[in-house]
Amino acid sequence: MRILFITSAHNSLSQRLQIELEERGHSVALALAKSDWSMVVAVTQHAPELIIAPMLKIAIPEVIWSRHKCLIVHPGIKGDRGPSSLDWALADGERRWGVTVLEAVSTMDAGPIWASQTFAFANRAQTKSRVYRNEVTEAAVNAVLEAVARYESQRFQPEILDYARSDVRGRLRPQMRQSDREIDWTGESTEAIVRKIGAADSAPGVLDNSMGRSVYLYGAHVEDELCGRPGEIIALRHGAICRATLDGAVWITHLKPKYDDGSFGIKLPAAKVLGSRVRDVTSSILSPAAALDYQTYRDIRYVERDQAGYLYFDFYNGAMGTELCDRLRHAYRYARSRPTRVIVLAGGEDFFSNGIDLNAIEAAVSPAHESWRNIVAMDNLVREILTTSSHIVVSALRGNAGAGGAMLALTADVVYARHGVVLNPHYKGMGGLNGSEYWTYCLPRRVGKDCALQLTEQCQPMGVRRATSIGFLDDAFGATAEDFDGELEGRVAALSGDQRLWQRLIDKHERRLADERVKPLDAYRDEELKRMWTNFFGPDSSYHEARRRFVFKGNLPAQAVDQFKREATLPRAPSQPARRLNTPAIGRVAPPQLSSDIAVSGRVG
Ligand code: COA
Repeated sequence: MRILFITSAHNSLSQRLQIELEERGHSVALALAKSDWSMVVAVTQHAPELIIAPMLKIAIPEVIWSRHKCLIVHPGIKGDRGPSSLDWALADGERRWGVTVLEAVSTMDAGPIWASQTFAFANRAQTKSRVYRNEVTEAAVNAVLEAVARYESQRFQPEILDYARSDVRGRLRPQMRQSDREIDWTGESTEAIVRKIGAADSAPGVLDNSMGRSVYLYGAHVEDELCGRPGEIIALRHGAICRATLDGAVWITHLKPKYDDGSFGIKLPAAKVLGSRVRDVTSSILSPAAALDYQTYRDIRYVERDQAGYLYFDFYNGAMGTELCDRLRHAYRYARSRPTRVIVLAGGEDFFSNGIDLNAIEAAVSPAHESWRNIVAMDNLVREILTTSSHIVVSALRGNAGAGGAMLALTADVVYARHGVVLNPHYKGMGGLNGSEYWTYCLPRRVGKDCALQLTEQCQPMGVRRATSIGFLDDAFGATAEDFDGELEGRVAALSGDQRLWQRLIDKHERRLADERVKPLDAYRDEELKRMWTNFFGPDSSYHEARRRFVFKGNLPAQAVDQFKREATLPRAPSQPARRLNTPAIGRVAPPQLSSDIAVSGRVG
């Protein structure tokens, strides 16, 4: 069937739906819902048999839905209506929720129901975006496939919304306002505060006042050990701030400033946004390998099981800034120094990785220099993995991976993904960025030159079935994160206990030496970084413009950026002097020289 997606953004959900429908032989065209007019033009151009709206912030105009069947994916149970479905479900502590596919009519979310799926919220820390990328996406795929099959059958009569029915439990809810989300630091428990922040994460965030600054809060984690006067910032850890509550404390990893004129700044690590205001707050550093029996925040975690070291790196939005790459490289070197046989790169639950941190780069005094520092740090990490001869390395993609983050996965010897993961192994959409991460070595060695070219030029999202069939992945399994983790452990234990593991390591080492003779790793890196240097410092500013559009979601508040950059020159907390030294200032720093700055950080095997 010819299907047209009308969507406010081609996000992970719409990408996944596209993959699933195309795998079933449908053709899917895409139109971004920018205005009534743009939707009408798209429908006229594509003449679709069916229109699906995976994620829509504006209504489809009557001139379209009165002539074409339009199915809306609504992230709520039957009868639920309104723009803040998931926010209310999470804030109210619902245990079961759902996705409903309904027909567009004049009243929003009140059309006849074509399919509905329910799910139980997983027993883990919840944020709106995590639920959206996991439970909602899985339920939406099933509901949309069901609705499409029903539409194709031409016999199905959709169910009229009837609040008298016992299975219609939802209701019309208003848009959740900041006053509904407001936190009372002196009167609310840790659990309630974490729930409130989670229900607004990743957008819009909970508006709050932190040390005299209006900010939106994101990335909340329970802290059981530290405590203090409720509301007070009592500790810092790798850019996160810890605020005391009535009965404990909450870590907040990211803040987005709100300015007096109503515009927003960039979402960044909390301590960076607060700058000198947290100068005197103590740093509380935690080793990735420390065994803990309490809840806290730790973005890099190392655990050993069955002669295998699992390295979890759960970075907000999968973005790997310069310091995170450096810290992960140190943690990786630690993992490699251990008497284990396998290292598992386990990424995060929401994302495996999305490559260099475009927000941090945008906020830097010189984005070009920060881009360079970031990609060099990323390459240093990748090099450590590629030159590991002591262990078999497994990449375990529990969440989606994009750009350099997808290429990072390919540095391992074995690559597994959870069913439902969406991969975007390409850079070009970011203003023609070349990308590095040794992808010109890793990608063709897995999928062949032609396929590598196709993936990086066509810039399409890819599902795990195709990824496995072309050799990008070795296998995909597990419908949920829990299923994936369970099966992964079994497979990794079998690998580390395999009698032939030593032979495998010898083969790996010999293959690396043979590859090195054909073309040294340094040559791949030099070539990639030369192109990146041109992307960052050359006359064509496409990458810088695309990055700005991406970071500000197309809405660039120039004033806010300037304001942030002025503040970035304020002195930082004395506990982090090294960071300040590494921050180049506009006008003072010349572009890095290619030869000296491509230097690698060591080649320990
Ligand atoms: N740096 C900073 N933030 C990033 C990021 C990156 N590299 N990649 C994604 N994000 C953020 C998005 O801004 C968004 O933030 P918000 O929800 O807090 O507003 C969030 O992560 C989710 O991203 P979104 O684009 O909505 O997710 P998606 O699953 O629909 O799409 C990608 C995934 C990978 C296709 C898309 O995020 C992307 O193109 N990212 C940029 C990748 C890149 O070019 N990296 C640099 C080169 S290595």
